This record gives sequence, structure tokens and C-alpha cells, in this order.
Amino acid sequence: MLGPVLLAAARSDAIRRAVSAAPVTRPVVDRFVAGEHLDESLPAVRALTDQGLDVTLDHLGEDITDRSEALRNRDAYLALTDALSAQGLGPRAEMSVKLSAFGQALPNGHDIAYANVLPVVEQAAAAGTTVTLDMEDHTTVDSTLAILAELRKRFPQTGAVVQSYLHRTEDDCRALAGEGSRVRLVKGAYDEPATVAFQRKRDVDRAYVRCLGILMTGDGYPMVGSHDPRIVAIAQELARRAGRKPDGYEFQMLYGIRAAEQLRLVAEGHRMRVYVPYGTDWYGYFMRRLAERPANTAFFLRSLATR
Ligand code: FDA
Repeated sequence: MLGPVLLAAARSDAIRRAVSAAPVTRPVVDRFVAGEHLDESLPAVRALTDQGLDVTLDHLGEDITDRSEALRNRDAYLALTDALSAQGLGPRAEMSVKLSAFGQALPNGHDIAYANVLPVVEQAAAAGTTVTLDMEDHTTVDSTLAILAELRKRFPQTGAVVQSYLHRTEDDCRALAGEGSRVRLVKGAYDEPATVAFQRKRDVDRAYVRCLGILMTGDGYPMVGSHDPRIVAIAQELARRAGRKPDGYEFQMLYGIRAAEQLRLVAEGHRMRVYVPYGTDWYGYFMRRLAERPANTAFFLRSLATR
């Protein structure tokens, strides 16, 4: 029951102000967010790559309400691309973007988001890295996949995310499993209605396995975005059956979640990419992490109580 409440709170400005201002929030946020500024976050990135982990960086921001914010977010990603290139991190570090941070929800937002993300994808390619389009709530999926298709005409390495909780996703996986595609499969982190999404965890997990089967037997590059130990084991088995070598797919987990498991998989010879968020606009991301796991919320509430 707590999950939907936290996901609703993730969209409330009043709760955002209260949570952001509470002094105890910061140490809990630090567990999931590498820093408020790029300079602070790069040492965390370097520490991960030094341990054999790959990364995908997310400059936090979503659901912006005016065009100037979209331009600021675009510029933040252009600066990030420069920094990755200057640090020689290009091949090890890619970027994840939320199109709502690029203006997707504004009037004529589809075109605005495409116009803002294109220079980032171009500059990423020039720097030897790439971009994956995060997936947000279900109302954005058609627009995001259409932007992906447009970007992939010139930059076929551009990646997409699909969410197994959506009824449509098996079909999307079939459409996206072609040669050269890069698809991150996740369970999904938004509060979605039963008309479009499975509601029971068991059904979401089963759909995940079906979708993973499609991606593993396809011709693209599957990216297994999950912390779930059963999913990690099933992915290895599906990859083996499909004749994929460890460099034919990768695991992905979030910064600060199951860090020991991330290193264990690398030690076993797997490719593991850590999703590293940074920036000041961490509220929505943080609340979704609390919603995923009661233990995280308990940890947060305990730190409030012991103040
Ligand atoms: P699940 O939630 O079933 O948990 C399985 C186990 O994993 C738990 O028992 C626990 O051990 C561990 N675990 C999971 N979450 C944890 C947490 N927050 N803290 C501590 N332990 C935890 N979603 C989306 O809608 N759009 C997107 O673009 C992305 N992008 C994305 C990128 C990457 C790299 C990852 C790993 C995830 C996303 N997600 C996402 C989030 C995703 O949809 C999902 O909400 C979370 O990954 C949680 O689901 P799991 O598959 O990890 O397992």
C-alpha cells in the first residue's frame, strides 16, 4: 500500500518542499545520488570504473514546465558529454536521459524534446559514447519510442528502456529486438492503472521473463535492468540457451543498490553497468526508490525519528 502513496507524493510540490528541506533527508539521498554537481559526482564514477563497472549517468530532472528548463537540461548533458570525453570515460560511460526533462510534456513537446535531445545524441556519438532514453509513465511511451526510431536512423546505438509491467511491452520487445538495437528491460517504477499495466508483482515478474526471452533470442543487445536475484539467474540461463557470450548482453543496477552483487557479477566475467544519478533535482528519483522497497522507507523514517 505504501508504494502508491509514495509515488503520489513524488508528484506533490508541497511534499517535495518539506522532504527537501528536512536536514535528515540528505544522508539518505546520498545513498542513491552521487552528488548535486557533476564535479562532485565524477570521483564516484571513477571509483566504479576502477572496479571494472561500466556506468550510465543521469543528470536528474524530469517533468519540467517551461522551455528554458529544457534548454538548461540539454546544456547540462552537453557539459556531461564534454566531461566524459575529457576524462577518457567515453567508452565506459554512457548517458541516460528522461525526455520529460527535455520538454516532452510541454505543448508541442514531442518536437521540442526531439530538437533538444538530438544535439546531445550527436555530441555523444562524437565523444565515443551513447545515450539511452529512459521510459517514464505510460502516456509518454509512444512519443519516446517514436523519438528513438528517429534518432536511430542516424545513431543506431541509441538505447531504449521498456517496462515489463505494461501490457504492451511484449509487442514493443518484438519490434525492438532487431539487429543493432540496445534495449534496457526494467519492471517499471510509476503508478500505472490496471487498464495498461499488470498490478501484481508476480505478473510483472512473469512478463519480465517473457520479454527477456524475446530480447535474448533476438538480434539486439539486451540490457537487464534489475536487482532481483531470480531475474539475474534467469537472464544468465536465457543468455546461455540463446548462445550469447558475456559480451552479448549486460546487467544494469542503480547506484547504491546491491553494490556487492554488482561487483560479484563483474568478478564472474559479466558486464555490469551502474546507473549513476546526480544533480539537485533528486526528489522524484528518490521517492521512486523509497516506493520500490519498504526497507528504504523504514531507513528514512528511522533517521527522521532519531533526530
Ligand atoms: P524488485 O523491485 O522486484 O526487487 C527485487 C530485489 O531487489 C529486492 O528484494 C531487493 O533485494 C532488491 N531491490 C530492489 N529495489 C531496491 C531498492 N530500491 N533498494 C534496495 N534494494 C532493492 N524504471 C522505469 O520505469 N523507467 C526507467 O527508465 C528505469 N530505468 C532503470 C534503470 C536501471 C539501470 C535500473 C536497475 C532500474 C530502472 N528502473 C526504471 C527502475 C525499475 O523499473 C524498478 O523499479 C527497479 O529496478 C526495482 O525493480 P527490480 O527489478 O530491481 O526488482
